[in-house]
Amino acid sequence: MNETTQSPLLQMLLQHPQQYVSGEMISQQLGISRAAVWKQIKKLEALGYEIEAVTKLGYRLIYQPVAIDHNKLQHHFQGKRLGFNVHHYDAIDSTQIVAKQLAEDGAEEGTVVIAEQQNKGKGRLGRHWHSPYGKGIWMSVVLRPHIPIQLAPQLTLLTAVALCRAIRSYSGLEIGIKWPNDLLYQGKKISGILLESSAEDQMLKYVIAGIGIDANLSAQDYDEQLQLKATSLRLIMGKVIDRTELIQLFLSEWELLMAIYEQDGFRNIANLWEANAISLGHKVSLTTPTETFMGTPLRLTDAGSIVVQLEDGTEKEIYSAEMGEVKGSSKSGL
Ligand code: BTN
Repeated sequence: MNETTQSPLLQMLLQHPQQYVSGEMISQQLGISRAAVWKQIKKLEALGYEIEAVTKLGYRLIYQPVAIDHNKLQHHFQGKRLGFNVHHYDAIDSTQIVAKQLAEDGAEEGTVVIAEQQNKGKGRLGRHWHSPYGKGIWMSVVLRPHIPIQLAPQLTLLTAVALCRAIRSYSGLEIGIKWPNDLLYQGKKISGILLESSAEDQMLKYVIAGIGIDANLSAQDYDEQLQLKATSLRLIMGKVIDRTELIQLFLSEWELLMAIYEQDGFRNIANLWEANAISLGHKVSLTTPTETFMGTPLRLTDAGSIVVQLEDGTEKEIYSAEMGEVKGSSKSGL
């Protein structure tokens, strides 16, 4: 964001807080054409600034991105398991790709990769993850757990619990987990998790845990399709989210839960997951690669699957499926 803070146009807007600055005035003071003013406005917008343009009034700065403070994070997490080493990028394809390379090159567990923007953000099931500049938390963490590959889903669920607790404690909002690992507020997704792992001899060699949080996205950052199913903490709370603080809360929570997991096993984590789940006890549609059916998720198994009650009353264990809309509200388990 250094390059933009030098922008004379931005300086002009900053000198007039809450006020409109006319295109004509900008054009005159900076000695550039009105078209050039417009082009520079677009450039600032691509870097996360939100500028309102009103005919006859001019331009007004309404949101200015604040970069994630990686030094603060690194300082805070010295001597801890996660977050002591943060690689902070401006714009890259995906933090997953960079973190994977670092892991291959021997990066320690707890190494964090953060980007202000991802050009090819990866979502679950090969989907694209929209990651505009300076607005969200786009972060991947290298983990090196000593567990067999089949227990990897437990880590995903643990991460979802940590994220849910961190966002709840930051925002006070009743965020719920939709199986397996989406975080929702009133039916709209605010955060997603993608775990990618590499294994050797049936044991996990490393895991890249990717976390996406829609922290400060505005309504304009979502296309029509996304607006129906996703929202941001800023939109819900009506205030700018301190991304550094939220990351700090999340990494602390995550480290705590990992210690509980390693000492006492998965059941405590599963209980916390269930207490925060919005998908239990509500009838939903479930789509697997081969079929779609209705069922009521009942509980989580230690393998990270869910037991679903089918319409005929029988129970079925589901390992992987796309869950349809969950009607009903979240439990306030914590
Ligand atoms: C999902 O589909 O819900 C998972 C989304 C995961 C997105 C995050 S953003 C940081 C990391 N880098 C990526 O490319 N994806 C993950």
